[in-house]
Amino acid sequence: MKPKTLSMKKFIRVLKWVGIVVALLVIGLLVAVYTLKDRTFESPAIDIKASTDSSVIARGKYLANGPAHCAHCHVPNDKMAMVDEGQIIPMSGGRLFELPIGNIYTPNITSDKETGIGAWSDAEIARVLRYGVKNNGHALFPFMPFYDIAESDLLAIVSYLRTLAPVKNKVQDNEFNFMGNVVRAFIMKPEGLKTENRPKILATINPDSSTEYGSYLAKYVANCVGCHTDRDLKTGEFTGPAFAGGFKLPGEGNPDVTMVSPNITPDAETGVMHSWSEEMFIKRFRAGRTIKESPMPWGPFSRMSDMELKALYRFLQTVKPVNQNNGPTMVKTADLK
Ligand code: HEC
Ligand code: HEC
Repeated sequence: MKPKTLSMKKFIRVLKWVGIVVALLVIGLLVAVYTLKDRTFESPAIDIKASTDSSVIARGKYLANGPAHCAHCHVPNDKMAMVDEGQIIPMSGGRLFELPIGNIYTPNITSDKETGIGAWSDAEIARVLRYGVKNNGHALFPFMPFYDIAESDLLAIVSYLRTLAPVKNKVQDNEFNFMGNVVRAFIMKPEGLKTENRPKILATINPDSSTEYGSYLAKYVANCVGCHTDRDLKTGEFTGPAFAGGFKLPGEGNPDVTMVSPNITPDAETGVMHSWSEEMFIKRFRAGRTIKESPMPWGPFSRMSDMELKALYRFLQTVKPVNQNNGPTMVKTADLK
């Protein structure tokens, strides 16, 4: 019996050491996550000064309440219906996005010095849009696609933000779960600091109905690509072919349903708009939201000019067709688990 007891003792000793090593690894990981989650990033300096030119401000206002849909996100969830109707609601933030990584709230972007961005410099506002780096150096989650926007449009947006009356509204801080902090510590990098496959930033952009302008809107302003391409909801990484849809988003105001973005490439079999004419496309956008739970900012988009809608339509016709059937547009969230 003796040898057996000895080996048992040895076994327990080994087990103890394994336990200590595992515990140290776990502690090391926790320390790494909690020290790295708030890491800061450097970004190139931006030389910008808000303009008081009325045509510049008008362009910014049009973008913010139309194609760039700032007004769709930077208002509380219960004001979205009013935004859909075309009311201009102060962008005092508070809209909640419930994600697998935690709860993210849109900040107050009015000029209030304490609770909004009134104390930020023009360059700091431009930097968060161009590089995804906040004034405190933290990376922004990739909700906004404006990294490659033309200099003239960046100036227009910053100039318009400067005209917004201050509204005092202290927005709740983001609440990240453990997975969210792991993503922040190890995975997340400001989107605008990535350099691969980036286009040359244009000094000015002239709105017209060309496919080039349509491409600019779809990718860098209206974020059609950001929702109509499959992505990992934890990191925002793109995982599917561009514009082929399949991205699953929680239903607006109703987490029991999940919305699946349709394929908007011109694929004859699986593309939702393969048989739409330009007139039908414009009519569809003018009609606005038809599905209450849709996260698509139909309201702001319904106010885009005919010229911009034509540009979008013409560009989408040139996208590489992808044969990808994403199934129904709305599914029960419980069925996905
Ligand atoms: C799809 C929703 C969405 C749209 C559209 C959007 N934003 Fe944001 N914005 C967010 C979220 C969410 C954050 C915070 C992200 C985070 O905390 O990592 C944010 C952060 C910001 C910040 C940083 C403010 C701070 O206090 O940290 C500014 C400035 C900003 N947005 C301006 C704009 C402007 C200007 C537009 C339109 C040109 C716009 N946003 C469009 C969702 C959006
Ligand atoms: C916030 C995510 C989001 C953005 C941004 C977005 N979409 Fe969508 N889109 C959806 C979802 C989800 C649906 C399905 C629900 C619906 O029809 O509203 C949809 C539906 C559509 C449809 C089908 C509508 C129908 O009636 O069959 C078209 C066409 C479309 N989107 C084009 C676009 C274009 C063009 C852009 C950019 C200007 C865009 N989307 C931006 C999420 C988005």
